[in-house]
Amino acid sequence: MTDNAANPTAQNAQYSTLSPALAVGDQEPDRNLALELVRVTEAAAIAGGHWVGFGDKNLADGAAVDAMRSLLSTVHFNGIVVIGEGEKDEAPMLYNGERVGDGSGPLCDVAVDPIDGTRLTALGINNALAVLAVAERGTMFDPSAVFYMEKLVTGPEAADMVDLRLPVKQNLHLIAKSKGKKVSQLNVMVLDRDRHKPLIEEIRAAGARTKFIMDGDVAGAIAAAREGTDVDALMGIGGTPEGIVAACAIKTLGGVIQGRLWPTSDEEKQKAIDAGHDLDRVLSTDDLVTSDNCYFAATGITDGDLLRGVRYNKDKVLTQSIVMRSKSGTIRVVDGEHQAHKWESYARIK
Ligand code: FBP
Repeated sequence: MTDNAANPTAQNAQYSTLSPALAVGDQEPDRNLALELVRVTEAAAIAGGHWVGFGDKNLADGAAVDAMRSLLSTVHFNGIVVIGEGEKDEAPMLYNGERVGDGSGPLCDVAVDPIDGTRLTALGINNALAVLAVAERGTMFDPSAVFYMEKLVTGPEAADMVDLRLPVKQNLHLIAKSKGKKVSQLNVMVLDRDRHKPLIEEIRAAGARTKFIMDGDVAGAIAAAREGTDVDALMGIGGTPEGIVAACAIKTLGGVIQGRLWPTSDEEKQKAIDAGHDLDRVLSTDDLVTSDNCYFAATGITDGDLLRGVRYNKDKVLTQSIVMRSKSGTIRVVDGEHQAHKWESYARIK
């Protein structure tokens, strides 16, 4: 066998057969960070999933946060949490501004949602996910203190047609037309909240069907944007952090998320204005995350339409995850089979 390191000519010859000249506009394949991030969401889902049905949101969330934090420290990137578990004093871990990763590699913004659906997890109800999104440094929207956002999500067909400022009925007609459906064939996903009563009346008056979710509008947004689901749109008010996380996924999936900040008090409103936000502005997917190099990873905690939840066998823990990268447009569904005893010592997670 030739030692190419000692023979640069042979090394170059071999390299050129493996990597033919690229045409203008082609890109060299490079590292897909999402494939490392999936280990992080798997760990969070396994740890949080242990507490499914125990009725304690904080216990499940705490376990998922610890696991996410521990595994994040192994990822080769220089991350800073911009969408986290709150301010430093209120959240002991994964707070906004916390540095994560091993400090090497690319500078990144990180959005963490160790459990989207803490109540779902506590009650053992479908659709809870462990979620992580990463984009280039300085590219994720800063919502300041505004926790909620009005949202409109739909798939690629109607992405350029809909507008949050239009009446609900008009948006539904545009979605139906671009999908070649009747309005009566549309399914619109909505968080089951009292604040949505007028919205639900409008959807029903337009002739479309509603599909309620108790929590978890990241999974809801993905369902609305992704091909092959029975969800045509997600509408209503949900968390702003979840909107930014969802935008990172939609960058790969195609489709659109539009958002408008929805402060719930005069104080929140004033803080947002002081931070320079225009509260009438409709934010597009590109406003929520300006980078075209976003990574998204999610692992199912409880079973759901998007992913199967964590299963614990005698010796193994089984997970199912989805990973996306916007630059390449790849979407992968990853089935993980973890050896329970090795996992505990290796990942330093109980
Ligand atoms: P948590 O798991 O962090 O509680 O979030 C669940 C969730 O349903 C989100 O998916 C959604 O964006 C938000 O809560 C809605 O907030 P609220 O429950 O206050 O209406």
